Amino acid sequence: MKFQIRCFSTILCVLLLILIFFFFFRWRYIDDDGDPIGAVYFTEIHERRTSSFLNDYMESKDNNYFATQNLTVPILVWWTPFTYDTGSYIQCRNQTQCFISNIRKYRDNKQFSAFLFYGTDFRLYDLPLPRYEHEQWSLLHEESPKNNYVFSFESIMNMFNHTATFKRHSDEPLTTQWLASIDDLLDQTYVIDVQEKTQLQKTENLAPIIYIQSDCNTPSDRDLYIKELMKYIQIDSYGSCLHNKDLPENLRNSLETMEHNEILKLVGKYKFALAFENAICTDYITEKFWRPLKVGTVPIVYGSDQFQNFLPDNHSAISILDFATPADLAHYIHKLNINDTLYDFYRHFKLNRIISNDTLLVRTMSTRTWGIHNDRIRGNFINKFECVVCERVHKTRKDSTIKYQAKFEDYGCPPPTTFDRHGKKLERTGNWYRTYVYTRCQVEVFQELIDQKNYSFTEKDLYNAASKRFSPSFQRNEFLR
Ligand SMILES: *[C@@H]1O[C@H](CO)[C@@H](O)[C@H](O)[C@H]1NC(C)=O
Ligand SMILES: *[C@@H]1O[C@H](CO)[C@@H](O)[C@H](O)[C@H]1NC(C)=O
Ligand SMILES: *[C@@H]1O[C@H](CO)[C@@H](O)[C@H](O)[C@H]1NC(C)=O
Ligand SMILES: *[C@@H]1O[C@H](CO)[C@@H](O)[C@H](O)[C@H]1NC(C)=O
Ligand SMILES: *[C@@H]1O[C@H](CO)[C@@H](O)[C@H](O)[C@H]1NC(C)=O
Ligand SMILES: *[C@@H]1O[C@H](CO)[C@@H](O)[C@H](O)[C@H]1NC(C)=O
Ligand SMILES: *[C@@H]1O[C@H](CO)[C@@H](O)[C@H](O)[C@H]1NC(C)=O
Repeated sequence: MKFQIRCFSTILCVLLLILIFFFFFRWRYIDDDGDPIGAVYFTEIHERRTSSFLNDYMESKDNNYFATQNLTVPILVWWTPFTYDTGSYIQCRNQTQCFISNIRKYRDNKQFSAFLFYGTDFRLYDLPLPRYEHEQWSLLHEESPKNNYVFSFESIMNMFNHTATFKRHSDEPLTTQWLASIDDLLDQTYVIDVQEKTQLQKTENLAPIIYIQSDCNTPSDRDLYIKELMKYIQIDSYGSCLHNKDLPENLRNSLETMEHNEILKLVGKYKFALAFENAICTDYITEKFWRPLKVGTVPIVYGSDQFQNFLPDNHSAISILDFATPADLAHYIHKLNINDTLYDFYRHFKLNRIISNDTLLVRTMSTRTWGIHNDRIRGNFINKFECVVCERVHKTRKDSTIKYQAKFEDYGCPPPTTFDRHGKKLERTGNWYRTYVYTRCQVEVFQELIDQKNYSFTEKDLYNAASKRFSPSFQRNEFLR
């Protein structure tokens, strides 16, 4: 009987987990700029987990269970319950082993060595404080600065020892997190001849440019620029932002699966595609950038200021920053649109299947040790990061003089900017800038509390103090509109 009850509750638990899982998944989808986050990691991680430790704990009913559990390897704890893993062993290079769990109580175990935080869920009022010297902190954050502005401030980045972010200089760079392989860029499946593209503009009434986005109010303020651009050149906008064209009936539901063949086919029919990120930060590059390159369409880019380092060659995309105004950009696109030689110059790598091999793109892809889309052989970047931390923990145990210190540049994004009506960048204005400044106030208050060794503040304390600090700066007219 007792067994049956337990069995039943286990099933309930599992169902609940699955529900949470899908909810989380769905939420990430919505938050993620209306783009599908690859089913990249969750399934795989979920599979390797076991809950036997939790069962042991429930049986023992011992409050000190986690603190006294006799483990022989370093313990890593996901402070943000990101993986839904109650405990498993991981095996990394050089036979290094660690035990990893999201049960916070393992902090009290003598084998405890490092925390891992998932950036989007990192909260200043919910941290393992006070910070002890021997506790290593690790940050995994592949997401846009939009998701959490705290990492745009130096004092927060200085708290970490290990990082995995989209920045090329982080300990495990995730810049190419949306690109499966170089072969994807050379793929010819969706490539359409330039003359045929011109023909399609007439027969299917297509604009020169395609835009598909459903996250419309973003820190990059992209829609304001695009709205202006639309005055000078036709753009087919299929997403909910600046929507002016409906997807074919059979594709209505496939915005969720942007890698769907039919969507790729659609993008491939256009000569140009807008690849504007939701926020602007060096090395923040998403599928918006790769998708056009994959299908033989020329991306018009607004994103990382150094995106050229990740192009197949030095003339395969157009940067809006090379043009003084959206009108100038439109003028240039018109020119390419009617001159096949000029247009195909941008597709040189694609049509000839040549990728410059001394590019950062190639170097990064050839040294990358993880895959995407549930790569069964190489695994995903979350598992890899757990190993980066595990291996480093082993090193510092062997040699206590080894130190690891994260820097501002390991994430550190600039404040958000907007555009004026002529597509000129404006600083220190707009709602996202307010969010940024408000976060800065929180970080300052947080720092002061830590300096006073006050660790017992609540979310509300932080909120109230930050708001007080925020209003005067607001009144100082820091925000122009
Ligand atoms: C912990 O486990 C190790 C190896 O299994 C064993 O040698 C040791 O005696 C154990 N220590 C305690 C306190 O149980
Ligand atoms: C593995 O161990 C060898 C010998 O100690 C060392 O030279 C090498 O750097 C280690 N590799 C990693 C990935 O830690
Ligand atoms: C692109 O690279 C080639 C050499 O690979 C060079 O000759 C050319 O000037 C470069 N073009 C631009 C626009 O940088
Ligand atoms: C296309 O542009 C090239 C390079 O500027 C030029 O030589 C050629 O005459 C143009 N073709 C047409 C049809 O305008
Ligand atoms: C780059 O490509 C050239 C020509 O295809 C080749 O000779 C060279 O070995 C390649 N370099 C690397 C590092 O792959
Ligand atoms: C981790 O970072 C903290 C904060 O900068 C530092 O005090 C500590 O020494 C670092 N630990 C290691 C092992 O590098
Ligand atoms: C810590 O800070 C909070 C918020 O400012 C305050 O309410 C609390 O009294 C402080 N605690 C101590 C021990 O100073």
